[in-house]
Amino acid sequence: MKAIVISRPGEPEVLQLAERTIPFCGPDEVLIKVAAAGVNRPDVFQRKGHYPAPPGAPEDIPGLEVSGIIETCGEGVTRWQPGDAVCVLIAGGGYSQYVTAHASVCLPVPNGLSFIEAAALPETVFTVWHNVFQRGKLKKGESLLVHGGSSGIGTTAIQLATALGSAVYATAGTNEKCKAAENLGAVKCVNYKKADFYNELRSVGIDVILDMIGGDYTDRNIRLLKEEGRLVHINAIRGSKVQIDISEIMRRRLTITGSTLRARDLRFKSALAQDILENVWPLLERNRLKPLVYKTFPLSDAASAHSLMEESSHIGKLVLSVDDTLAIR
Ligand SMILES: NC(=O)c1ccc[n+]([C@@H]2O[C@H](COP(=O)([O-])OP(=O)(O)OC[C@H]3O[C@@H](n4cnc5c(N)ncnc54)[C@H](OP(=O)(O)O)[C@@H]3O)[C@@H](O)[C@H]2O)c1
Repeated sequence: MKAIVISRPGEPEVLQLAERTIPFCGPDEVLIKVAAAGVNRPDVFQRKGHYPAPPGAPEDIPGLEVSGIIETCGEGVTRWQPGDAVCVLIAGGGYSQYVTAHASVCLPVPNGLSFIEAAALPETVFTVWHNVFQRGKLKKGESLLVHGGSSGIGTTAIQLATALGSAVYATAGTNEKCKAAENLGAVKCVNYKKADFYNELRSVGIDVILDMIGGDYTDRNIRLLKEEGRLVHINAIRGSKVQIDISEIMRRRLTITGSTLRARDLRFKSALAQDILENVWPLLERNRLKPLVYKTFPLSDAASAHSLMEESSHIGKLVLSVDDTLAIR
């Protein structure tokens, strides 16, 4: 099979097309013929050599999510059959023509969505559902602030929280990105290059913040939170070592938490997939949530997808079309 490999740590050009063996489908696993693969920021960190694959995942093939058709079901798989259309979160190896995945983590391609759109779902939906709703415990009627509102994660968080009855605020780096975030349902998106998000939102007060920035945002995040507010970290683009005022946390009984998805075990991911099937899939099928695909690239041009992601001019997701005959559905 063809796969994109990281030939050595470095710039996007190190992503090269190579020939690899089709992975073996073990018990409780399915072999998927990949139609499309989502591109995520962690893939860029992996390409640069800063985010090694966890044990068991291919070391040099990036890709955390795919959509496609089940080709083979391993021993013990009863839930799926060859020919089923699925999308799935994987621990790596998605930039290739075939992947294996544990059957319990696969989700059906939602009705009405293309394979390209379905490939854009798992990484962002799993991350947002877990961090905003399970960890951050966002409830209907509460307010959410999403930093990086135009990112794949941000566009998903805005739509999902809006659909479930929250007032969502966001930050993004251009007026165009802010407009896009507001079109997706954000009450207000602050262009952080032109205004201070704390000053803009202090009169609102926020119940939950989904933060990928860290660094100098942390103090302002803490000050923005209402009593019992929750600050959830999924990255720290501006630095992970910060000074905080613990008395603020005590006074307003705040919670600071965070998580990384990739290294979590199968049991966790299977349970999360089931929760998402019950709570998020109906919203997708009712068109209350739609993955925002900014641009697609052929698998062989994964380097261009990474270059665009690093330029950060995109709004929403970048997707690789792996099999054109399947990807157009
Ligand atoms: N913990 C986890 O399990 C997990 C899982 C998946 C992703 N993540 C993280 O979530 C983030 C988004 O991932 P993605 O794949 O959706 O990537 P992406 O689309 O490339 O998004 C990155 C975003 O960061 C924004 N940004 C950079 N500096 C900012 C600032 N100071 N204030 C507000 N926004 C800023 C960029 O927007 P501007 O151009 O507007 O600045 C861009 O939209 C990444 O940092 C990724 O590592 C974490």
